Amino acid sequence: MSDKLLDRDFITNNKVTNFDMNHHFDQEIDQNRTLEMNVKKALYSHTEFSAHQIITQSNKYKYHDVMEPTKSHDYLAEIVNAMASLNMQGLTNEALGQIDPSGVSFKAALETSIEKIVQRLNGRELIYVELGPEPIKTSFILQRLLDFGVSIARYIAVDINPASEAPLRPVFERILGTTPVDFVNASFDEFSLNAYLGQTQTPALITMLGFQEGNDDPHTITNWLQNIARKDDMLLSEVQLYSNSSALNISSFYRNPMMQRFSRIAFEQAVKDTAISVGRFYLLPVQTSDGEFIFAAILCEEFLDVDRNRKLFVSNYCLKFDFPQYRAYREINKHFKIVEETLTQDETLMFQISLRN
Ligand SMILES: C[S@@+](CC[C@H](N)C(=O)[O-])C[C@H]1O[C@@H](n2cnc3c(N)ncnc32)[C@H](O)[C@@H]1O
Repeated sequence: MSDKLLDRDFITNNKVTNFDMNHHFDQEIDQNRTLEMNVKKALYSHTEFSAHQIITQSNKYKYHDVMEPTKSHDYLAEIVNAMASLNMQGLTNEALGQIDPSGVSFKAALETSIEKIVQRLNGRELIYVELGPEPIKTSFILQRLLDFGVSIARYIAVDINPASEAPLRPVFERILGTTPVDFVNASFDEFSLNAYLGQTQTPALITMLGFQEGNDDPHTITNWLQNIARKDDMLLSEVQLYSNSSALNISSFYRNPMMQRFSRIAFEQAVKDTAISVGRFYLLPVQTSDGEFIFAAILCEEFLDVDRNRKLFVSNYCLKFDFPQYRAYREINKHFKIVEETLTQDETLMFQISLRN
């Protein structure tokens, strides 16, 4: 069964709160759905909810309307704003990531990573490719690169959310002046720099920030990144790491009102926009397609269906790798080589730079 058919069934059925087709999801063997299914498994294994009470959807369905994929609905624009607001909080909270005032903060870790990128470029110009654009952190990175004298030949944003271009284009054009700014409204699996750029030799800095990497199975993400990047392109990624001591940091991020609103928006779109729901958060070990267990932050909305049965809608799931896991997945089939890792002092947040071999 194709993705599209599943989407259509889901939407049609679920607006009348018939969730039976969710069982079809269980039988899906498509790797892109493995994580979604395993998140469901973790929930019915570790909570009071049974499989038939749990409703899941693929990560990317939150970011576009599958029936009208190019339509910029208000709720999609609200998601773009929520991401920007979270990044604003992250960059303006000078203590984020610190244990004491002398330690490396989130902002300082990002600044260090930018300096490392500049050193590696060694005077070469770059093409900036942003997977899932967002204005605040990106403006900060672009401005720092320009301040270091880096020449940016082109900026390319790839996003499945059609509502991101309108507010973000003017922000990047203001910073970049005459540099071409492209917005590609596509899914990551459809995009490849080789195909998009043709013969250009200019190296690219590809960014995948905002914990996006945890939203799909690591092998799915690895396939996308391998296909997107060309030899010697640089990848800057950001991750929130799991450790025994970081569980509180993770749950506090998901308690942020922006994340809770994000969860409710996903529920309103997929299930029922008027139903009362209660936000739930779980941090559970979830199996990946290769059998490894990785902790995942899982946001849900609990509600009563038309028959007054308790249901749990999974609005967001994000893998929280531990440090060795994150390292291992980046280099798993030798397509990328890690060249820099910058951690915050509390070791909960990390920026990683890797090179496509
Ligand atoms: C978690 S947000 C991160 C936003 C931003 N990079 C940040 O640092 O906060 C994920 C972004 O990737 C986009 N996105 C998610 N899944 C996608 C997919 N499969 N293909 C293309 N874009 C996707 C979303 O629309 C959103 O802009």
